[in-house]
Amino acid sequence: MTDKTPSIHGQWSSRFAFILAATGSAVGLGNIWKFPYITGENGGGAFVLVYLICVLLIGIPIMIAEIMLGRRGQKNPIDTMQTLASQSKADPRWQYLGWMGIIAGFLILAYYSVIAGWSMAYVTKGFFGSFSGADATAIKSLFDGLMASPIQQIFWHSAFMVITMQVVMRGVQGGLEKTVRFLMPALFVILFLLIAYAMSSGAYQQGIHFLFNPDFSKINSSAVLTAMGHAFFTLSLGMGAIMVYGSYLPKDVSIAKTTFIIAGADTLVALLAGIAIFPLVFANNLEASAGPGLIFQTLPLAFGHMTGGWLFGFLFFILLFFAALTSSISLIEPAVAWLIENKNIDRKQACIWSGSACWALGVGVVLSFNAWSGFKLFGKNLFELLDYLTANLMLPLGGLGLAVFAGWVLSQKEAQQELALPEQGFQAWQLLIKYVAPGAVFLVFLHVVGVL
Ligand code: TRP
Repeated sequence: MTDKTPSIHGQWSSRFAFILAATGSAVGLGNIWKFPYITGENGGGAFVLVYLICVLLIGIPIMIAEIMLGRRGQKNPIDTMQTLASQSKADPRWQYLGWMGIIAGFLILAYYSVIAGWSMAYVTKGFFGSFSGADATAIKSLFDGLMASPIQQIFWHSAFMVITMQVVMRGVQGGLEKTVRFLMPALFVILFLLIAYAMSSGAYQQGIHFLFNPDFSKINSSAVLTAMGHAFFTLSLGMGAIMVYGSYLPKDVSIAKTTFIIAGADTLVALLAGIAIFPLVFANNLEASAGPGLIFQTLPLAFGHMTGGWLFGFLFFILLFFAALTSSISLIEPAVAWLIENKNIDRKQACIWSGSACWALGVGVVLSFNAWSGFKLFGKNLFELLDYLTANLMLPLGGLGLAVFAGWVLSQKEAQQELALPEQGFQAWQLLIKYVAPGAVFLVFLHVVGVL
């Protein structure tokens, strides 16, 4: 095995470039598509509160740990874990954490690409005016039509996968940094516009109430698991993506401060998306628990009725597509890096192989929405199965492992050397990473398994 450093990781030109890349990875379909629909399915406010607590007490300390491990190890997740474990004279099997991460990223991308494909389909629908003046029934049947058509979905899923692999093939440096620089401000502008529309839709209070008024009777252990899993998913944690990005962070940059900025921006986008969507749901008597189709059945309604909505609808789905793209590259990059370094093939071939395999699994996901919708395991179709397995199990498990490694295995002197926190800050991080974060993940797992 060689020590080649894949050129794609890039040496971030500055702290700002890293923030952009990591925020690009974090802000994605998870914020705008997934957060609203799982909030709707899990009853609103209480779920949101649990999610926020998980971001603060589990997500942020683990993100600090993951960036720190990456910058310490300077390699891809498997080799980083191997190097750090051997430096700490620990069990070499810690590298399996890197393995699980690579597999999780691969499984997530298979369905992520399908959903990103939906947003591409909606770019064209917006462009050709399919939303204008349409009522809730018409918008719903537009979405149902897409769901029922394997051909359309496979077409867009394929297009998204080809674009992702093209970017990964060429490296993220120029193209992606620039895209994110433009994307983030534009995304905020459109979200605020949607919120302004939602405020005038009549059910604004009701939407806000749903999001921010915790009703704990609506929450159970599976909702808590979903909220915790989502904290990992939305921050891109637990599988080595942020670790890889962190490995090229200049040494003089404060990891903790940077983490707060990334997690803050990510949380803000999710909450803004929720504030934009739920008033529309209630104003149009839609089901908050509509599931994965939620944003595709609500936002076009707003676009269809506001002046200039044609343009904004078109722009919104383009931005959603870009948000997905800056995330998808971080999902597949660890697999590509591993292939290059261990299978003696070049970057292009590594992209073709991993991309094709991921694409094939994605076709299965498309079919799980139509032709194979009757095929279920543990009561879940393929899409739901992949989502549950990765977000609810693999990411929290990976995060638990990383927390234990960073807090208990790695020498704390090294950790502090890398983090350079003021004494109190370091102690707070230690408390969270040693006890609170792993303990919380463990407790939630126990509860779900029914032991508690
Ligand atoms: N965070 C992204 C989103 O919210 C998805 C994502 C990108 C991700 N890279 C990841 C999730 C790594 C888990 C692990 O859409």
